[in-house]
Amino acid sequence: MLTLAFYFMLVQPKYYLELQAELDSVFADRSGHLDPTALSGLNLLNAIINETLRLSSPFFLPRIVPSGGFVLDGRHIPGGTTVAIATHSLHTSPVHFSPMPQAILGKECHTDKNAFMPFSSGPHACIGKNFAYQQLRLIVARLVLAYDMKFADGFDSHTYLKGTVPLLATWFRKPLLVKVIKRSGIDLDKYV
Ligand code: HEM
Repeated sequence: MLTLAFYFMLVQPKYYLELQAELDSVFADRSGHLDPTALSGLNLLNAIINETLRLSSPFFLPRIVPSGGFVLDGRHIPGGTTVAIATHSLHTSPVHFSPMPQAILGKECHTDKNAFMPFSSGPHACIGKNFAYQQLRLIVARLVLAYDMKFADGFDSHTYLKGTVPLLATWFRKPLLVKVIKRSGIDLDKYV
């Protein structure tokens, strides 16, 4: 998830710079405490995380229908049948999200929030959702505040994405090569 978030920001570097500006405007001390409430209110930070969750969700979350079967949308599904939400298809359908691909990080695009379920939905949805969001915001913000980044020289972003396979977990066939440069005002000793 984090690897893809940085991929998406660096493949369209204006988003990396815009996020840096959003963070700089709120956190004057680049190495200082990052208040989780302040982070949760940052539009672009949230948009980048949600957009990455949308595009990196797995293909299927399978369930087995219990014995006796189940009626779904007027159809009887026999017990023992494997059913699944095709999250990746849902998340990449232009019916729910457009323009495609990569719905421009929440700007001027159609977004059907009911079709957005990277943490699944219902009684067995992810119990770690809020914690995950908090940690994702913190890690992305910390890195973007501390470093300027761009793809490493010779890195082929097109081939890289073709080698990325979202199954039950996303599988990266190639490493993401990034050049990071520490920004002014960063004191790494403050982090430990
Ligand atoms: C980006 C981070 C995360 C994503 C995208 C994610 C996604 C999901 C999804 C899709 C499910 C449902 C799986 C299924 O139905 O087969 C799930 C379940 C679950 N997740 Fe997460 N998760 C994340 C982080 C976390 C964290 C940080 C924790 C714990 C601290 C956590 C704990 C759980 C647990 C315990 C379940 C099972 C819930 C149940 O079956 O009742 N997850 N997660």
